[in-house]
Amino acid sequence: SGDKLWGGRFSGSTDPVMEMLNASISYDQRLAEVDIQGSMAYAKALEKTGILPKSEMEKILSGLEKISEEWSKGAFVVKHTDEDIHTANERRLKELIGDIAGKLHTGRSRNDQVVTDLKLFMRNSLSVISSHLLQLIKTLVERAAIEIDVILPGYTHLQKAQPIRWSQFLLSHAVALTRDSERLGDVKRRMNVLPLGRYKLDFASISLNSMDAVSERDFVVEFLSFATLLMIHLSKMVSGQRALPSKKNPDSLELIRSKAGRVFGRLAAILMVLKGLPSTYNKDLQEDKEAVFDVVDTLNAVLQVATGVISTLQINKENMERALSPEMLSTDLALYLVRKGMPFRQAHIAAGKAIHLAETKGIPINKLTPDELKNISPLFGSDVSQVFNFFNSVEQYTAMGGTAKSSVSAQIDHLREQLKRL
Ligand code: ARG
Repeated sequence: SGDKLWGGRFSGSTDPVMEMLNASISYDQRLAEVDIQGSMAYAKALEKTGILPKSEMEKILSGLEKISEEWSKGAFVVKHTDEDIHTANERRLKELIGDIAGKLHTGRSRNDQVVTDLKLFMRNSLSVISSHLLQLIKTLVERAAIEIDVILPGYTHLQKAQPIRWSQFLLSHAVALTRDSERLGDVKRRMNVLPLGRYKLDFASISLNSMDAVSERDFVVEFLSFATLLMIHLSKMVSGQRALPSKKNPDSLELIRSKAGRVFGRLAAILMVLKGLPSTYNKDLQEDKEAVFDVVDTLNAVLQVATGVISTLQINKENMERALSPEMLSTDLALYLVRKGMPFRQAHIAAGKAIHLAETKGIPINKLTPDELKNISPLFGSDVSQVFNFFNSVEQYTAMGGTAKSSVSAQIDHLREQLKRL
């Protein structure tokens, strides 16, 4: 009856469903080029150590060259027996040059190959992502420079708070993305360790331990973590946005926001796969590639779309200014009293009283008479009228990080300098 239960399907050599579950060729053919690149470097290393005669190395190299051509022309024929890209390329090499092909695998396993290939692939991909990210930051910074005189309500808790420069808002995102860019640099640097000893592929150093080399996927986790935080930043750029008045077509922004969930899902999945794995390579690790490919593609698309949105966005200066209201200047009223010598805590209470009075009278706070204000605090003078000016309000924050023009300009200068180094 046990036989019946299994239907005999698993007694044969290869069950088609198992074969499908096991095969990674459908997606890991994206590693075709780097797999060949890795094999070429390895063949040269084998020659150097005397394992391969020069003539055989040259045969292997020209065979690999031919396979590379086939891939780039779309002429490589994947057979249903090809389990993954490594076995596919090896099978083809044997067809082309015969049994010598088998020498390429001396001292190397697919486990070394797959991690080397993935690192090579990511090295290329991360450079592309990095330049898209820098382009987005640049776009934010340059837009901030051009539109520095536009003032609009700044929001906290989704409610109008104080007036800010539009540029301050743009730069708040640029600064967060700059940290992401630095993080990406760290990921690249730490990933740049060659898993297979002895051969040259422009890695900065060689893995210190062979068991660690084939089993560690820290670089995948770090990349996906970087990507998740970047996506969270991009999703924030989209969310609070009454300020981004792109009612016309918010689809692009909503897509960006949704992809944050997708990318985090990939990170969570890989962390679960890695948890508790025993020593060295386990087939579980095959799961890493789809996550990396998907997130690479997602970031490339999302970053370019975000740059498109920020560079083409039309702002409505009049609407932004119309959205400003005198109530947003209550902090300024308190700060006026502070400048006259009142401790901030008391000034805050006095400003609160002014707001309450205006509310009960049903008028904006800037319509309270000098006498009404004097009643609240004798420190209110006739010069209080200058407080009710949105431009003066943003200009008073001249410290580093503030909304004054000088301060925002300093942020722009700083970011422009930083961009040169990223
Ligand atoms: N396709 C596999 C992967 O992606 C290659 C490694 C399999 N290695 C092995 N010795 N069975 O992880």
